[in-house]
Amino acid sequence: MLGMNIGIDLGTSSVIVYVDGKGIVLSEASVTASESNSGKVISIGSKAYKMIGRNPSSISVTRPLKNGVISDFTATQCILRYYLQKVCGNRIFKPNIVICMPSSITGLEKRTLLDLATSSGAGRACLIEEPLAAAFGAGVEYNNHKGIMVVDIGGGTTDIAVITMGSISVSKSIYVAGNAFDDAIMRYVKRERDMIIGEITAEEIKKKIGCAYMRDAEIAIQVKGKNYISGMPEYFEITTTEVFLALREQLEKIAEGIRSVLEITPPELSSDIAESGIILTGGGSLLRGLDGFIFKKTGIKTVTAHDPVNCVARGIGTALGHIDILAENGYLFKTREDITGRNEDVTSELESFIISDT
Ligand SMILES: Nc1ncnc2c1ncn2[C@@H]1O[C@H](COP(=O)(O)OP(=O)(O)O)[C@@H](O)[C@H]1O
Ligand SMILES: [Mg+2]
Repeated sequence: MLGMNIGIDLGTSSVIVYVDGKGIVLSEASVTASESNSGKVISIGSKAYKMIGRNPSSISVTRPLKNGVISDFTATQCILRYYLQKVCGNRIFKPNIVICMPSSITGLEKRTLLDLATSSGAGRACLIEEPLAAAFGAGVEYNNHKGIMVVDIGGGTTDIAVITMGSISVSKSIYVAGNAFDDAIMRYVKRERDMIIGEITAEEIKKKIGCAYMRDAEIAIQVKGKNYISGMPEYFEITTTEVFLALREQLEKIAEGIRSVLEITPPELSSDIAESGIILTGGGSLLRGLDGFIFKKTGIKTVTAHDPVNCVARGIGTALGHIDILAENGYLFKTREDITGRNEDVTSELESFIISDT
């Protein structure tokens, strides 16, 4: 195939781009800022992320991917087009793109993703399940015949899958992941402390002192919020125990999701997993003690992959190196004509949606 081979992890929190032969070249927040009136995108990525919760009413800041699927098609197109342009420049041949999808995606959502890729600058596009890519990125061999469980905890979704012989046997996506942890912290401080905090502060608390178990030595940090009763800004302290209590219910939901996939796993693969264990990937798996929590709840050895945030992108990179094997397993590249029956070039229409270089 002519053109560069590119892998894209289009996550609810971040977009990570892998170029065959180069590795990860770009990692940016999946956030756009646009003019409220015209809808024109004025910022993409980290610059737009900094505006979350601080934007004036003339600018709306959105995460165009929600729960692992596209909730704002045009904004997602802008993101993809902008990054492809950044990576490929003005090459004559359009790139071939492998893009990841949640394991429980519907046929219509698949078509939407392919439509998105081929209308944002890809010459050919191919979809691969996120947990499969995560497994490759965590070092699972393509031809590994033993069953292994991968739990990819992202921003919007946790994808739980049993992988064998380079494909998925059983899987499930649940809408409990990093963002749900942040929401739980926000709800907790409002309920227990009468304080209101934004999602960025809640995420900071989670990353700094979030924990999946009750710590012996308690740590407290000072954060800024708004008093719910007086409406005044105030500093207050929050402890590791409080954060654990805030997250407990969400953590139980993830453990329950894993148990429900284990229940429907065929017996041979189940016994493989008892031996090979569970691998955690995705940014959400960086929550302190999460591996120990899942081990406690399932009795199965659980490890967090090395560099879990980049596992999916690295795994798509592995898949790019085995395009022939991908094709044998039914992962085929499609052109715009294959998807829509037409060969129109829609990328230029998008220019009018982006009004400044970010
Ligand atoms: N050190 C950390 N501790 C806890 N959560 C983290 C940490 N680092 C990142 N995260 C969380 O990981 C999630 C993003 O994970 P990622 O795999 O990048 O998501 P996605 O695939 O949906 O883009 C966010 O909710 C973020 O807050
Ligand atoms: Mg992800």
